[in-house]
Amino acid sequence: MATDMHPHAKSLTTTARELVAPRKGILAADESTSTIKRRFDSIGVENTEANRRDYREMLFRAKGAADFISGVILYDETIKQKAADGTPLVQLLTSQGVMPGIKMDAGAKPLPFAPGETITEGLDGLRERLAEYAKFGARFTKWRAVIAIGDNIPSWYCIETNAHALARYAALSQEAGLVPIVEPEVLMDGDHGIDRCAEVTEMTLGEVFNQLRLQRVLLEGMLLKPNMVISAIKAPNRATPELVAERTIAVFSRTVPSAVPGIVFLSGGQGDDEATTNLQAINAQAKQAQAPWQLSYSYGRGLQAAPLKAWGGKSANVSAAQAAYLHRARLTSAAREGKYDPSMEKQAAAAG
Ligand code: 13P
Repeated sequence: MATDMHPHAKSLTTTARELVAPRKGILAADESTSTIKRRFDSIGVENTEANRRDYREMLFRAKGAADFISGVILYDETIKQKAADGTPLVQLLTSQGVMPGIKMDAGAKPLPFAPGETITEGLDGLRERLAEYAKFGARFTKWRAVIAIGDNIPSWYCIETNAHALARYAALSQEAGLVPIVEPEVLMDGDHGIDRCAEVTEMTLGEVFNQLRLQRVLLEGMLLKPNMVISAIKAPNRATPELVAERTIAVFSRTVPSAVPGIVFLSGGQGDDEATTNLQAINAQAKQAQAPWQLSYSYGRGLQAAPLKAWGGKSANVSAAQAAYLHRARLTSAAREGKYDPSMEKQAAAAG
């Protein structure tokens, strides 16, 4: 794709690279109101607008997090919301040099005539919504497609329609001057082994990049947000981090062009320690293999599980929760550099 067709080529490329600058990755804090309800339910906190604000304000004000966090993905409510003292939440981020991003999709809905499969909605009116979010300060965007593995699924129909929608979204986002984060998530629900995940991830990414090229998306001005190639949660004998790294890099080397500046993993159903250990193994092997892309993070649960628990909805716990968030961000950043060691967890626990 010739870059001269893209009026925003230069700024898109610069922003995409800044999002995956050394040591840095992304905090995904774009849970929809129904998803954050599930997170709040787990700590017994009521899902009110004030509680959502307090929780996210706490994360965004955590001192030192900007050393490890280049950007935060926000939800519609959050990008327009003000902190308790009236400061826009977006300003809390930009004043620390952290870029605000925004979830653009309207969620995964049942795919017609395809039991167990979904299609992500949200293309209608997308151009206008992108322009509105740009005014609120968004620099980048996200769209998540969901591919489930099960008996006779995914179908090619599901992969193709979701890849097409992802590329439609990515092209419109670049037209608006906003870096798209293209997220085709192959779920780790079920009991399938790592080989099945590798096969489905390879098929999915192959079609996603086919559609991105067809729809003239500037590969230098986007990021990919994929799953790791990993055993399902209930698989017997789940693969080791070394095998996860080997398969993940092998699948990407077949499907992700080197023009893409960065791959930012989702944490999915992994525990935060598992997501960190696997990211470490991937970066350690990527260095050996001289992989062309930055391999970083765009974690939701991987960064938030610990602070959510430490907070528990109580203002007295804000400092402890911020410390838990900072700790997780520091370790995830170390893994992104290939410098994480599990002993770092214990050291911090002992110090704490
Ligand atoms: P998880 O890291 O919790 O999977 O969230 C990332 C995300 O943004 C999913 O769309």
